[in-house]
Amino acid sequence: MRIGVLTGGGDCPGLNAVIRAVVQRAIRGHRWEVAGIRHGWRGLLVDEVEPLDLSKISGILPRGGTILGTSRTNPLKEPDGAGRIRAAMNTHKLDALIVIGGEDTLGAACELAQGGLPLVGVPKTIDNDVNGTDVTFGFDTALSIATEAIDRLHTTAESHDRVMVVEVMGRHAGWIALHSGIAGGADMMILPEFPLPLRDVCDVVRRRKERGKSFSIIVVAEGARLTDGVIEQKPEDAKRDAFGHVRLGGIGAWLAERIEDETGFETRYTILGHIQRGGTPTAFDRVLGSRFGVAAVDLVARKGFGRMVALRGTKIVDVPLEEAVGSLKTVGPEFYETARVFFS
Ligand code: F6P
Repeated sequence: MRIGVLTGGGDCPGLNAVIRAVVQRAIRGHRWEVAGIRHGWRGLLVDEVEPLDLSKISGILPRGGTILGTSRTNPLKEPDGAGRIRAAMNTHKLDALIVIGGEDTLGAACELAQGGLPLVGVPKTIDNDVNGTDVTFGFDTALSIATEAIDRLHTTAESHDRVMVVEVMGRHAGWIALHSGIAGGADMMILPEFPLPLRDVCDVVRRRKERGKSFSIIVVAEGARLTDGVIEQKPEDAKRDAFGHVRLGGIGAWLAERIEDETGFETRYTILGHIQRGGTPTAFDRVLGSRFGVAAVDLVARKGFGRMVALRGTKIVDVPLEEAVGSLKTVGPEFYETARVFFS
């Protein structure tokens, strides 16, 4: 038996933990061979496939990024993409493929599996927006980085009597903003799921001043919007990736300017950007990635194709890929109401 493994979409801390676990479980546990596909789906389309043995994965556990490389290639947008993926799997004698990715990469995996390809999925993303699993690996690391940044911004905001706007990633889900805002003691979090007016943000800042608090920290998710203002960008001008997603970012700068104009309080902004995705994974993400990797190989052994490994409570389970794709896992009103308790 010979299996392939690929990492697609944005990179994410913990990918190497999954790759390492896949290789160790497959070679040591099942006596299979493993092939690494370079740069996500692109590696199968342009024939970038290499053997992965135990020596290749030695020392990669604490390393960020992915030793296989990644890309946002959508195979289903390529001419005869599905046929070429099938042909490449035949050429490299792959009996199954483990696809590590987020919503987009797993969406393609789901469609290809429906067409009969022997695929299993592993959910990955710092955004934590994949349905079917309680958590994706990478989220905990991004959250730790964002929380540390907020802690650091607190001291400089306080020293200068400033408002600090912190823009975090998460695309159309507010998980990073919500968790880091709670963990970092922010005065308000603005999430894509719950747009609010600029007036509410300015009121928080003003109320704090009245209470003698000279500084404020506002966390804003990159995909958030205010109900009474829009960033002047025409949708047709926005840059998009192969899956049609608009490149987000910029609301932090826009919001900081509006707050300063409205309140007269000196305001600065910080965009955490890809710092949230880079570097070494937390212990939690290493463990979750390792558990997912082992479970994915065992799922292949059970011929559980078209399924994805997932965390439910404390257990690793598997769910149909259809459950994971199609809609995003977003922040619900109950959790948001809890977070609002901490708004100043
Ligand atoms: O999906 C992960 C993510 O980091 C999002 O939070 C962000 O919007 C996007 O990827 C950035 O993509 P890129 O690395 O292509 O700029």
